[in-house]
Amino acid sequence: MTVLDPGLGLGAGATPTAAAKRCLADLALADGHPLFDVPRSASNLATPDVERFLAYSRRFFDARRYTNTGPLSVELERRLAHLHDVEHCVTFASGFWALVLALRALALPGHDEVVLPSLTYRRMADVARWASLVPRFCEVDPDTLAIDASTVEPCLGPDTAVVLAVHPIVNCCAVDEVEQLARARRLPLLVDGVESCYETFHGRKVGSFGNAEVFSLHASKLINGFEGGYLTTDDGDLAAKLALQRGFGFNGHDNVEHFGINAKLNEIHAAMALANLDELEDQVVDHRRRYHTYRRALAGIPGLRLLVFDEREQTSCKNIVVELLDDWPLTRARTLELLQAEGILARAYYAPALHQRPTAYRTIAGPLPVTERLAERFVLLPSGSRVSLTDVTAIGGLLRFLATSGAAVARPGGDLTEAAVAAGAHP
Ligand SMILES: Cc1ncc(COP(=O)(O)O)c(C=O)c1O
Repeated sequence: MTVLDPGLGLGAGATPTAAAKRCLADLALADGHPLFDVPRSASNLATPDVERFLAYSRRFFDARRYTNTGPLSVELERRLAHLHDVEHCVTFASGFWALVLALRALALPGHDEVVLPSLTYRRMADVARWASLVPRFCEVDPDTLAIDASTVEPCLGPDTAVVLAVHPIVNCCAVDEVEQLARARRLPLLVDGVESCYETFHGRKVGSFGNAEVFSLHASKLINGFEGGYLTTDDGDLAAKLALQRGFGFNGHDNVEHFGINAKLNEIHAAMALANLDELEDQVVDHRRRYHTYRRALAGIPGLRLLVFDEREQTSCKNIVVELLDDWPLTRARTLELLQAEGILARAYYAPALHQRPTAYRTIAGPLPVTERLAERFVLLPSGSRVSLTDVTAIGGLLRFLATSGAAVARPGGDLTEAAVAAGAHP
């Protein structure tokens, strides 16, 4: 078990490599030493006890079952179904292919549009396209940054084949009302719970909403299987169909029963996911401590708002997102430029929005002013198992420094050395 200590013994680079920034000349963009020599990212990279991982791996190795629904992927499916409080779980090679196959399976025949948010995962329109559907982008609620019934409803029409609700990366979307809407309109609902796999919504476990929900086992996510994905559902027919489709559509030897692809999860990925699942609760304790350290480190910084987890629900507290308010002195692009130079791999949170990206295929979007405004304002900060509490405090210190000195460094691509001299801070 790895409960975080402040330094979080990660070896070289575990603690900030430069002293706190006191003047502009200290900034890495002005040739100061970067805060972190080893960059800190927002990828979780949960690392289970290696002996645990090897013990799981030995099972498939000894049984010589490397893939094709081996014992570990079967065990993983059973445990994930239990985690999400559903009847069935089907594992896949990735969350992406789980989404594609599930959308294809759920879409109403003869209809070709999928309604989904534009402020979401960067490749989600491609998912729709691979499923032979046309993405119709809907608005999001400015408080949850996610769809709700009022933003989905105007986009429903005679061509709607399926609704894809995506949980945001902090807390959940109003999935119950979207579920009611879909039911009332007799439309299938797929939920992307990739960033919410630990959460509950109004006390009900995420994984049990809509017709099915999809999750990722990518190394950046809460349950790290290196790569991988899974779908949860109470619909046995859907689970059986998707289990066939992920394995070329074969039912038995050379008996092709379905149009299919190869999207199976192999056994070594299942071993990693099982080892991480065993340590999930400890991992969440660490995420919670990291999040609360961020809360203290960012408290009172003018122009910055940390998105707060609803801790009345079960929540992983894994992702750290801040909003740059109107009185933040820097553009988001300039903020990212300064942070990244310091080894802080902060990212623009879902920008540009999907309807603002060029695609080689057809997409549909009405005016989406809320999405466009929100797509300018959020930054994802480092979190996950490689970020220590000391790192968090240092990141908070840097943001506090930028909040007060930012005006002098505001010009994108501007020469910071010059700004430092002008501010009388450079030697
Ligand atoms: C919200 C969301 N959905 C789906 C995916 C795709 O998952 P995978 O990387 O397992 O294909 C991602 C990946 O980051 C994601 O963030």
